[in-house]
Amino acid sequence: MAKDLIIACDFSDREAVFRFLDSFSGKKPFVKIGMELFYAEGPRIVREIKARGHKIFLDLKLHDIPNTVKKAMKVLSALDIDMCNLHAAGTSAMMAAALEGLTRPDGTRPLLIAVTQLTSTGEARMRNELLIGTGLEETVMHYALNAKSAGLDGVVCSPLEAGAVKARCGAAFLTVTPGVRFKDSEADDQVRITTPEQARALGSDYIVVGRPITAADDPVSAYTRCLKEFLGD
Ligand code: C5P
Repeated sequence: MAKDLIIACDFSDREAVFRFLDSFSGKKPFVKIGMELFYAEGPRIVREIKARGHKIFLDLKLHDIPNTVKKAMKVLSALDIDMCNLHAAGTSAMMAAALEGLTRPDGTRPLLIAVTQLTSTGEARMRNELLIGTGLEETVMHYALNAKSAGLDGVVCSPLEAGAVKARCGAAFLTVTPGVRFKDSEADDQVRITTPEQARALGSDYIVVGRPITAADDPVSAYTRCLKEFLGD
């Protein structure tokens, strides 16, 4: 399976994202569009970036009743995206409905990835507010297995969890991992971080990298360096 680097395009409007993508001239990186940009600019931003030749991970983390998610996924699939996601907490019924909605009339569909527990949710909050008494790591692995049983393609997780996810769910189950930093760059608000080389060694299939590229003085060389370190060539 092809490993790749996905740039988290966390910009607030289309002018900013196009200014950024224009600097790549011939290159067409895989990009992640999140809630901020999507809610600000609507589906048109997805069509425009796709028309420029980029693969798109649409990071909207759906979580609703199965029928609603199925219909929403049908709409997203028609945008010709390459990857999207949902919360595994929506249950297997919701995940199965999402897959149905995503599948296009010709049988193709974007990759569907599950969020297990948000990395902003610590074990204490999970126990005290969500009343989930199992440990955090066990909960993450259990949700990953639910996603796998429902037919999803993989999970979003830390590179530090990628090996355990592969061990439990199989080597073909994708790990999409944010929390990646160069060894000489700022951690920002990320806590459990690895370098691109470590992410590869730990079994990440896709690394999702934002600020080390988007906020770099030279984003194109930061992208090239990150991709090279991740692919190991
Ligand atoms: O700028 P940075 O490299 O930290 O960006 C990481 C991206 O991955 C952001 O878009 C962030 O929202 C997303 N993400 C994350 N941790 C998760 C899920 C998504 O950092 N668990």
